[in-house]
Amino acid sequence: MTTIEFPKSMKWGAATAAYQIEGAADKGGRSPSIWDTFSHTPGNVKNGDNGDYACDSYHKYEEDVQLLKELGVDVYRFSISWPRVIPHGKGEVNPEGVAYYQRLIDSLLENGIEPMITLYHWDLPQALQDEGGWENRDTVEAFQEYAKAMYEAFGDQVKNWITINEPWCASFLSNYLGVHAPGKQDLQAAVDVSHHLLLAHGKAVETFREMVPDGEIGYAPNADWLEPFSSAEEDHAACRRDMQWKIEWFMDPVFKGSYPELLQSIFAENNAYLKVEEGDMETISQPIDFMGINYYSGSIARYKEGSGLFEVEPIWVDYDKTDIGWPVYSEGFYKLLTYIHQQYGEVPIYITENGACYNHEVENGIVNDQPRIDYLKKHLTALHRAMKSGVPIKGYILWSLLDNFEWAEGYSKRFGSVHVNYRTFERTKKESYYWYQQTVHNNWFEI
Ligand code: NOJ
Repeated sequence: MTTIEFPKSMKWGAATAAYQIEGAADKGGRSPSIWDTFSHTPGNVKNGDNGDYACDSYHKYEEDVQLLKELGVDVYRFSISWPRVIPHGKGEVNPEGVAYYQRLIDSLLENGIEPMITLYHWDLPQALQDEGGWENRDTVEAFQEYAKAMYEAFGDQVKNWITINEPWCASFLSNYLGVHAPGKQDLQAAVDVSHHLLLAHGKAVETFREMVPDGEIGYAPNADWLEPFSSAEEDHAACRRDMQWKIEWFMDPVFKGSYPELLQSIFAENNAYLKVEEGDMETISQPIDFMGINYYSGSIARYKEGSGLFEVEPIWVDYDKTDIGWPVYSEGFYKLLTYIHQQYGEVPIYITENGACYNHEVENGIVNDQPRIDYLKKHLTALHRAMKSGVPIKGYILWSLLDNFEWAEGYSKRFGSVHVNYRTFERTKKESYYWYQQTVHNNWFEI
């Protein structure tokens, strides 16, 4: 037995996002987001699922706060639904929407849990999409106004903020690969969206400094890790290209004030051009208080001529896979974190998401999700090792508190530490919930 022990300062948390859990899509003055439109369009989401009801957390938030309290976490990371608080994307603030988050925040604080707000977790108001969405540079200003309204409403009570969740997904996965809303397949659109998202991040940080001087703000890019299949230079370069797409494209602008040249030229070869205006890079690169990292998986990969933009293909070696098909690759977590530390220096890091999809159901009142516990042990061991190597980790936030609407996979993929029955909305704590509770309480676990 080895004990993996974390420093006393370690913050533990659990995360969710508005569209994935709230439901109440047409309640309280909320208007549609791009995810309502996308999921209601046949063929986009598995089984035709949508977020109309999700986990009904809009009504059951108190029960969810009790689950968090009992779990013993320090932090709850949740997102605000932009179309719930500003239904048309810009202009009037909807008091009923703000009141919902106020109730949630009050309840968290009364129960000794620190709120961490994500401003953008993918549910752009449809009204803004109708004007071009994130492809339209004006959306940056609309986001800044929205951020301002949220700082005004909650800045006194909430000190941890995240601007944008997984900008790679919100740009390339959504506008080039077409898998997420708005479901486009247009590289130029994706490049424009990526820049506008980063600019929106910068503008929101700028306003935050004026309005919440005692708070902390960061963003939450996602990354996976690709290990070259062989020592051949072409395999190494192929992995680097793909990782640059997720890592450097979204981190260099923020921490170095520039976009990677290599990717710009690959995009240009495909007739997509980055459009940067004067002052943009200064806005994007202003200092932030922490970086969030969302990590789930990785794989071995190699060069393959003609396979997509970056000519890279993953090799499916015999790693265990989670129920969404992603390899369990905790070594990649360690490598990613040490790489980021080496590239971007001493910026404190929150693991803003890590977790696994396993679809265990309730049997005799119990959800025995041992594979999730194994996954968490492996990843927390890798995280611990990264901390021992000097990576400045502030905290770890589990994805997710609840099973929820897994985007294009609908309700078919469960990531929660608490099982949700989507017919009755009944919550059942899984074995992993109890394991995480123990780990959070002890600040250590055994392997
Ligand atoms: C990343 C996203 O931020 C979250 O919304 C999603 O459910 C998880 N990864 C799992 O795919």
